[in-house]
Amino acid sequence: ALPRDLTGLRVVISAGGTREPLDPVRYLGNRSSGKQGFALARVAAQRGAAVTLVAGHTDALPPPAGVTLRRVSTALEMQAAVRAAAAEADVVVMAAAVADFRPASRADHKIKKSDDAPDPVVTLDRNPDILAELVRERRAGQTVVGFAAETGDEHGSVLDHARAKLRRKGADLLVVNAVGDGKAFGTEDNSGWLLAADGTEAPIPLGTKARLAATLWDAVVVLRSG
Ligand code: C5P
Repeated sequence: ALPRDLTGLRVVISAGGTREPLDPVRYLGNRSSGKQGFALARVAAQRGAAVTLVAGHTDALPPPAGVTLRRVSTALEMQAAVRAAAAEADVVVMAAAVADFRPASRADHKIKKSDDAPDPVVTLDRNPDILAELVRERRAGQTVVGFAAETGDEHGSVLDHARAKLRRKGADLLVVNAVGDGKAFGTEDNSGWLLAADGTEAPIPLGTKARLAATLWDAVVVLRSG
């Protein structure tokens, strides 16, 4: 049996991807499956937390038992739902893949191709960074957790990028997944590192998304007891 060590905690978890509409039938989206966020919600509920799951677009996943589910589509809808739920939460975990940009305008009618007119150009506006905003507006004692999907590049390794992101966003904990080559997105397994604002860094061995969820909730318990 799982420990009931999250009893009394109100947690908010975001999951899945957002869709940013171009017209009534098209959108900009991403490949997030929602599996990691759903696993976080399921494990938290099993361990006794009161869970609100703010879900964007996901694979056809069964919603975890015993959680409050709020469905959203766009980043702006996710922002509103997460902020409202976070106002009464002890822990907020942003596992959603929020679009960084949205089309600056949404056409009322399906965008048509035409041999007489130039092809359309899409202008993008920046979406709010929900995680950074949660940190700025956090309630006393609230724990804020982010996820980062990183690849290494000429500017640094996966870990270098993740350390910079943790500092920039100001979260208490950051789960870092190495992505690319079919890793993490849509798969059953996950691995990476768990970085804490105090500089603690722990590798997360390859395992199920439920296992990673358990590891994260263990870290939240330790952080909040210390
Ligand atoms: O900057 P990046 O998108 O890599 O950061 C990932 C983290 O920030 C995730 O926790 C994600 O849910 C969150 N995020 C957000 N709002 C955005 C973009 C990302 O809350 N607009």
